[in-house]
Amino acid sequence: MSKINSVRKGVIIVAGLGTRFLPATKAMPKEMLPVLDKPVVQYIVEEMVASGITEIIFVTSSQKRSIEDHFDRDRDLEHFLKQKGKFEKLSSLVELSSKVRFFYTRQPEPLGNGHALLCARQFLGDEPFVFSDGDSIIDAKIPVVKQLLKVFQYHQSSIIGVQKIHDRVAMTKYGNVYAKPTKEKRVYRVEEFREKPPTDQTSPEGLIVGGMRYVFTKDIWPVLEKQNQGKDNEVWVADAANQLAKKKPFLAYEYEGVYFDTGDKLALLKTAIHFALKDKEMRSEIEKFFGSA
Ligand code: UTP
Repeated sequence: MSKINSVRKGVIIVAGLGTRFLPATKAMPKEMLPVLDKPVVQYIVEEMVASGITEIIFVTSSQKRSIEDHFDRDRDLEHFLKQKGKFEKLSSLVELSSKVRFFYTRQPEPLGNGHALLCARQFLGDEPFVFSDGDSIIDAKIPVVKQLLKVFQYHQSSIIGVQKIHDRVAMTKYGNVYAKPTKEKRVYRVEEFREKPPTDQTSPEGLIVGGMRYVFTKDIWPVLEKQNQGKDNEVWVADAANQLAKKKPFLAYEYEGVYFDTGDKLALLKTAIHFALKDKEMRSEIEKFFGSA
């Protein structure tokens, strides 16, 4: 029996300093760096909106005002583009922004992704919600948030999106998820989360967390509120999720899609190349470029 989809709110945290991208990120949010003609964070908003989320709260900081401007209407620019016959350059963003209401709150200091999530607590109340970081793109036919919400509809418990990889050495670079398969395809019951374990202790199922995509129930709040600082003296969502998984059913869903990090130079470059290669014209130009390199 499927239950109604009651999840309408999403949180995207964008308050980090982006030090790996300095000096580019001195005055410019790393979440606004472009992958082709769209900033990274727009891909995440598109994913949420295509999954039925109608209210998004950004957890921001003082350097991130351009994110707010990006999703706001700019009547002068729209008028100008219409007169020049160039409005189609902006129309998809205008349409996207009309489908969702944006809210903003500040994280006063970058004290970790868990601390950033806590800054959105009041906005979310006791509703279940979707949670994402601001610098991961997942290229998927069915938006990953939508895939997770489908599982949530039935189970009504917290869920994390995971990937399966088989390379034990590669697994040591990620958060690993220790989980038992269930009768449902791609659905696991989480027992433990562990950050970057050594090769001989990686998840037996090969489950890792790349980009953060969670659906949380209100059960996360009391745990997160009590969560102590962990690695690098930051408060981590994964540590709180680990505690929650010990108390309540917590699922992992092996989503269909390919995850791209955009948090450092090489990762962003690879992401841009991936999306460029999907475009016929750009693909042939890139092939020529590499062919002549
Ligand atoms: P990162 O772990 O990549 O950290 O954050 P960062 O500070 O942005 O970048 P570096 O490591 O200094 O280069 C992943 C996501 O979580 C957000 C970031 O904005 C990014 O979208 N974040 C991180 C917060 O909102 N607050 C924090 O305290 C930490």
